[in-house]
Amino acid sequence: MKRAFLAVLLASVALPCGAQRVHEVYQQHCATCHGANLDGGLGGSLISGAWKHGGTDADLARIISDGLPDLGMRAFREMLPLDQIRALVVFIREREQQERARSAASPAVRAESPTRTALHRYRAEQFADGLDIPWSIAFLPDGSFLVTERSGALRPIAPDGTVGSPIRGTPAVLHHGQGGMLEVALHPQFSENGWVYLAFAEGWREGGQPRAMTAVVRGRIRGGAWEDEQEIWRADRRFYTRAGVHFGTRIAFDAKGFLYFVIGERGGWHEAQDLSRPNGKIFRLHDDGRVPDDNPFVGRADALPGIWSYGHRNPQGLVFDTRTGDLWSTEHGPRGGDEFNRILRGANYGWPVVSHGIHYDGRPFTALTEMDGMESPVHHWTPSIAACGLAFYDGEAFPRWRGDFFAGALAQQEVRRLRIDGRRMIEDEVILKGAGRVRDVRAGPDGLLYIVLNEPHRILRLRPADE
Ligand code: HEC
Repeated sequence: MKRAFLAVLLASVALPCGAQRVHEVYQQHCATCHGANLDGGLGGSLISGAWKHGGTDADLARIISDGLPDLGMRAFREMLPLDQIRALVVFIREREQQERARSAASPAVRAESPTRTALHRYRAEQFADGLDIPWSIAFLPDGSFLVTERSGALRPIAPDGTVGSPIRGTPAVLHHGQGGMLEVALHPQFSENGWVYLAFAEGWREGGQPRAMTAVVRGRIRGGAWEDEQEIWRADRRFYTRAGVHFGTRIAFDAKGFLYFVIGERGGWHEAQDLSRPNGKIFRLHDDGRVPDDNPFVGRADALPGIWSYGHRNPQGLVFDTRTGDLWSTEHGPRGGDEFNRILRGANYGWPVVSHGIHYDGRPFTALTEMDGMESPVHHWTPSIAACGLAFYDGEAFPRWRGDFFAGALAQQEVRRLRIDGRRMIEDEVILKGAGRVRDVRAGPDGLLYIVLNEPHRILRLRPADE
């Protein structure tokens, strides 16, 4: 499964011939002094977490580039191209993180005892289980829930956590690679109109090979059945591809009722820069799927008019800060360079021209981390946390968390609390770790945080336990 996913990725890009993998570069040029395991020798340890000469990514790149001639480390500027130096930074960061994970105690979930974080203590209770790759959760006004399962089902969950049988007649999905039934969201006026939105991977098979793409529909649920279905967004058939990766997706509504949703670049890398294709874009539509007249690329012959922002790899977190009205997104980077972005009208987020990451196999693909005309992330994570699911918290239950974001992480099995000051991230705290791969994080109308987990497939709920 993992291998197939990698094969698709590798097949879809032209790799630079001869670029060396980063662990080979390290062993050839650095290991004699810093140790084969980065734990030090003549040069210091690169994984202790203590940096004598500046510990930001930019500092590390500068030191490798310029060397520390007085201390006996040469400048590698002439010997290694800039992208290899960037790759070394990613490599060092990954090893540093692995070392930290081995030694550090992070907030792990224990069943009944409260977990202490910087600002609140909480108790994690198991809310629902027995699910099949749950992906997204929505809160109904009557206190019940809807949950998607990637394998294709939309299920109700009763207020007490009892999981019901699948809603009948929901759209057929293509459960292929990372695709399947993905996002569920309610219309902001759901109480009046009953609209439920679904975003999912769909398509067909040709000679056994899938042709898949993300689609968005809405419908109503009556008596356990999906009815009144309307298409909100579908790609032209020519954009359905074999790739099983990077479908996105999340849905968010702004205060005016416009609908935003994500499509990842579907393994198409540079297609994220092509405005005539849906890959790697965030879209903005009216709630019924019509394109708003004031969208940034309306009227351009070479652009899909629904596009709001572009140059994305695979965002899987999308939420409004309801205080400022700003739209925020978390985005999966490749190996390194997961991003936290403020989404601006018409902006280009740079993938794959600029990135803080490298190929999964350790080869660099760009030396550039920023460029004029491209929006830099407000924050990036190297090594990758595999950011998935994003909530904005403005509830009553955890007053000191009000105004903060909560981001899930699949690979690192974490929930992180993020605090933004203006345009800068000033706090990034792991509040939960090791309970499973975090697929979605949502703030409930009850002020509790709901954490949708995979492996094991279940939903946790965080409840205040302050003294
Ligand atoms: C000939 C030995 C030598 C080689 C080869 C070498 N370094 Fe160093 N490196 C050093 C020394 C000595 C220091 C300074 C240690 C100190 O300040 O105590 C250093 C410092 C560093 C630092 C700063 C550490 C800190 O605490 O801030 C980084 C990062 C680093 N090296 C990375 C590399 C990388 C990456 C390579 C390979 C491209 C490399 N070095 C190759 C000797 C070496």
